[in-house]
Amino acid sequence: MEIKTFGVIGSGLMGAGIAQVASMSGLRVIMNDIKEEFVERGIANITNILSKSVDRGKMTPDQKDAIIGRIQPSISLKDMASADFVVEAASENEHVKFGIFRELDGVCAPEVILASNTSSIPIGRIAGSTKRSDRVIGMHFMNPVPVMQLVEIIRGIATSDETFRTTRDLAVMFKKTPALAGDYPGFLANRILMPMINEAVFSLYHGVGTREDIDTVMRLGMNHPMGPLALADLIGLDTCLAIMETLYAGFSDSKYRPCPLLRRYVEAGWLGRKSGRGFYEYK
Ligand SMILES: NC(=O)c1ccc[n+]([C@@H]2O[C@H](COP(=O)([O-])OP(=O)(O)OC[C@H]3O[C@@H](n4cnc5c(N)ncnc54)[C@H](O)[C@@H]3O)[C@@H](O)[C@H]2O)c1
Repeated sequence: MEIKTFGVIGSGLMGAGIAQVASMSGLRVIMNDIKEEFVERGIANITNILSKSVDRGKMTPDQKDAIIGRIQPSISLKDMASADFVVEAASENEHVKFGIFRELDGVCAPEVILASNTSSIPIGRIAGSTKRSDRVIGMHFMNPVPVMQLVEIIRGIATSDETFRTTRDLAVMFKKTPALAGDYPGFLANRILMPMINEAVFSLYHGVGTREDIDTVMRLGMNHPMGPLALADLIGLDTCLAIMETLYAGFSDSKYRPCPLLRRYVEAGWLGRKSGRGFYEYK
C-alpha cells in the first residue's frame, strides 16, 4: 500500500517532531491531540525549529511554508480514517494507549499499520487492544526527532513481515537508521538508558554528588554529549518515571525500582524542560 497520508497521535515533544520529519519527506500529515491548543503548540514548535533553519540559510521560506502547509491539525481520531499509516505518540500511559489503539482500529482501514512510539510498553500488549495485531508495531523515534538518527523498531509476537518491512522502509525514507529490538519492557534503548538515568537520580538522592558533578562525570568521564540528569530533563521526568514503572512491573525485578526522588519531582510537577523545572531550572 502506498503511503501518502501519515497520521500522528499526540502533538507533544515527540508527536510534533515525528510530524515534522514526515512532512519534510513529502507526506501529507494529520497531527492529532486532545485539545486544539495542544495541536497549535505542536505546530508553533515545528514553525520555530524551521524558522531557525531558514535563518541559517538551510531552508527557504517557501520550503518552510510547504512543510507546515502539509500538516493538518486534528482533535478527533475520526480524522485518521484518511491516514495510510498512523504513529501514536501520546503520553506514556498504557491505558491511554490502549484506548487510542482500540479507537483507531475501528476508524482506520483494515490494511493500515498502527505504530506506537512508546518508550517501554510491550507492543504485544498494545496490539491486544486491536483486531489487527499483525499490523501493530513499535516505531520508536529518539528525541529530538529531527536530529536523532535512530528509529528502534519493535515487532510484537504477531507483527507480520510485511508490517515490519513497510515500517523499516518508512524509517529509511525519513533518513533514519532502523535497529530491531525484541518486545520486552523498555526494548533496547530504554532498558539500557533508563536504569542509568535512575541510578544518577539515586546518586543525587543519596548525596553522592551534586547535579553538576553527576552530569560532569558522565559528560567528561564517559564522553556522553549530555549528563544523565540534563538528559532526564530533556526527555521529561514524567516519561522517565513511567518507563521505570513499566520496567519494574514488567520484569518484577527490584533493580528497576524508580528512585523516590524522581517520583517526588514528578508529583511536584517538576517535569524537566517542558515545565520549566526539573533537575535544572529553565527560563
Ligand atoms: N520524551 C522523549 O524523549 C521520548 C523519546 C522517545 C519516545 N517517547 C515516547 O513518546 C510518547 C510521547 O512522549 P512525549 O515526550 O511527546 O510526551 P508529551 O507529554 O510531550 O506529549 C504527549 C502528548 O500526548 C497528548 N495526548 C494524551 N492523551 C492523548 C489522546 N488520548 N489522544 C491524543 N493525544 C493525547 C498530550 O496532550 C500531549 O500533548 C510517549 O509514549 C513517550 O514515552 C518520548
